[in-house]
This record gives sequence, C-alpha cells and structure tokens, in this order.
Amino acid sequence: MGSSPARTHSPVEPHPAASLCEAERAGWHLGTPHCVPAPASAPGGPGGRHPAHPLDESTWAHGQRPWPDGGVVRGRSDRGRRIAVLCSGQGTNLQAIINAIRRGVLQAHLAIVIADRKEAGALPRARRAGIETAFVNPQAFPHRAAFERCLIALLDARQVRVVCLAGFMRILSPGFVRRFPRRILNIHPALLPAFPGAHAIRQALRWGAKVTGVTVHLVDDQVDHGPIVLQEAVVIGPRETEASLLHRLHRVEHRLYPQAIQLVLDGRIRVRGRRAERR
Ligand code: GRF
Repeated sequence: MGSSPARTHSPVEPHPAASLCEAERAGWHLGTPHCVPAPASAPGGPGGRHPAHPLDESTWAHGQRPWPDGGVVRGRSDRGRRIAVLCSGQGTNLQAIINAIRRGVLQAHLAIVIADRKEAGALPRARRAGIETAFVNPQAFPHRAAFERCLIALLDARQVRVVCLAGFMRILSPGFVRRFPRRILNIHPALLPAFPGAHAIRQALRWGAKVTGVTVHLVDDQVDHGPIVLQEAVVIGPRETEASLLHRLHRVEHRLYPQAIQLVLDGRIRVRGRRAERR
C-alpha cells in the first residue's frame, strides 16, 4: 500500500508522467488529457482546476490509494479474466459479483468499478472491498463521445476484457459497444423483450403480468436488446408491490449475473444472430 505524493500539480494539468498508467501509478487522477481538457479559463490558469472535474477527487485524495492490492478481489488467474463493473445506483449486483469472486464461484479479477453518480452506493461497496473506484462525472464532458473516451481509457489501462453494466443508467453509443464486441453484459429486471427501459418492474405490475423475471444479455447498439445469455422467470404474486417484487428479482439477479459473467469469461457463449448459445 503506497501513499500518494504531495499534490503540487493541479489534477487536471497534464502530468509529466509519460503515460496514463504511469500518471495513475504516481497517485494522480486519470490523465486528464485523455479524458477532458480543462478549459484555459479554468481556475488555476490554463489547464487549471476544473470545478466539475470528471474524476472526482474524493476517489483518490485520501493520502493513500484506497485499493490495497491493485484492485484484485481474488481470482485464480488474472489473464483474460479482468472485468469492470459500471453502476449508477446502490450496487447490490456489484456486491453479488464481489461475493461470488470471494467465494470462488466466479473466477474473475474485478479491476475497477466506475460510477457516473457521485452518490452511487456502489462506490463505497467497492472501496470497502479494496477495489479501485472512479467517479466519472458526465456533466464535465462536452458530449457523450468525450465521456465514453474517458471510460475507454480507464478500461483499456486496466486491460479489462468484460464490461458488466449493473444498473448503469446511461445509454452507451454504438462506438463504445464496438470497442468491446460481445464483451459487454447488462442485467435487466424483466423477461426481455418484455418491459425494456428504466421502469420495467413498475410496468410489469401495472400491465397485470403474472410472470416477469431477470435477463442477462450481451449489449448491442439498441437498448435492452442484445442476445440473451441467461434468463429466469419470477411469478408475480396477487399482493405483489414494487418493493416486494424488486426484492425477489434482486435475489435472482444476484445469482444469475455472476453465472453469466463466468460463462462469457470462459468463452462458453457463442453468438449466432440473435441467439447466444452455450458451448
Ligand atoms: C437492477 O435491478 C438491474 O436489473 C437494473 O438496475 C438495478 C441495479 O440495482 N439494471 P443495483 O444497483 O445492482 O442494486
């Protein structure tokens, strides 16, 4: 566990270290030139401190790196098994992934957890587990492409192979999806193609559906659309509320998502058209 050097540079100034990884190793925020250029008018002069810094200071400004072991949760082999989790919310699926890795049910190396909301409960969960975290503030980027370039820089620098969306409330562009072909997973609280979108549980209840469920699918360039890796039904009871259904769906999600990640990491999913078949 190393301590970061005294901050004599603004975190948005181009760091003298030659590469993104070196700058990070030295304890600096992600090489801002890769992420978002600070406007010349920003406080601190050209390249000075940007008030809405895309990578939040609290992530790394504690005098020591918050991840004691380089982000390794535990895994049999690091090679080709590096994953990232992208979240916006409380992170119960993230927690399930962490727990599955710890139990050895999922052989993966969780390299980084990225959130687009500072308040995302997923961030403290990851930190408590000793995993590297980053808050990437979408508001600090001029457009989605710049935001996504920052995500890609973070993921590439850690050689992430599989990207797991777990309640990440942003639509990723076709360009981002192409960057990780058939290597982005998403979990959705309904039996797709029924009830896509952000309000799947409420919509299933209002529709009067008797059955809903959980879908883990590969991400393509349409929302909640890609080939289905795993799916499991959940019966909706007569007195079901949103809260009770969410709770029951979560229990299924927490079991299904690690299984699906393991299948993808093991190369056991072959895609033919819309079908994701198990080898
Ligand atoms: C889950 O219900 C998932 O299906 C949906 O977003 C929710 C995230 O929950 N995509 P959590 O943050 O993992 O608790």
